[in-house]
Amino acid sequence: MSDLPRRGKGEDRIPAEMPSAQRRKVAASILSADHAYLADQIKLVEEHVELIHIDCMDAHFVPVLSVGPVVVEAVRRVTALPLHCHLMVERPDALFEDFARAGADIVTSHVEAVEDPAKVVRKAGDLGMRAGLALNPETGVDAVVPHLESLDRVLVMSVHPGWAGQEFLDGALPKIEQVRREIDRQGLAVEVEVDGGINERTGPKCLEAGATVLAAASSIFKAARPGEAARRLAALAREES
Ligand code: DX5
Ligand code: ZN
Repeated sequence: MSDLPRRGKGEDRIPAEMPSAQRRKVAASILSADHAYLADQIKLVEEHVELIHIDCMDAHFVPVLSVGPVVVEAVRRVTALPLHCHLMVERPDALFEDFARAGADIVTSHVEAVEDPAKVVRKAGDLGMRAGLALNPETGVDAVVPHLESLDRVLVMSVHPGWAGQEFLDGALPKIEQVRREIDRQGLAVEVEVDGGINERTGPKCLEAGATVLAAASSIFKAARPGEAARRLAALAREES
């Protein structure tokens, strides 16, 4: 797969002495961005966030249909930040090759959507991408624990997947704590990303529970000044680093 695009460079900014899993980060989820001006929207937040989070939905795993590799490829051309594709789809691995070609750096699959998570994670790696596993609000942490060693990240959903703008579910906090404990016990550098209802009030609770990445859509892109909103969330994340 020598024609695969190279990874984004955003995480190069992390100081070498600090393992990346210890530095707290913000991911801008473009689901709430104005897709008619996607490049401009990304430029507004780019200097404050470490990742672009792209929600891909298939109208089967979740009732909603959103974007796929065509949009990933377009975003790839306008930013060097790592692109994290959150695949809320059935049979996500069937799409991995397309996402890799489009320039995805990280693909996260829902454990609820795959029969053999180990195989799916391996396939992402074989295509040169980092792999994540996501947990719906009703799914326990046990589903990802056997795979931690081969994961780049665990994505803890703090809303039901499908829509931006929902209320944060507090039930995510003990799950973040639990997965954090297990990652630390095994001495791993797996990121714990929390996704859904993240803002300046809920973000700090997640960081305190052990999250290393805050994914936020509405609190950034629905703000009057998305750049300023991203900067403030990033400042909170840095305080916890
Ligand atoms: C929900 C998506 C989230 C969403 C978050 O299905 O996975 O990434 O964009 O949106 P907010 O931050 O508005 O809750
Ligand atoms: Zn998401």
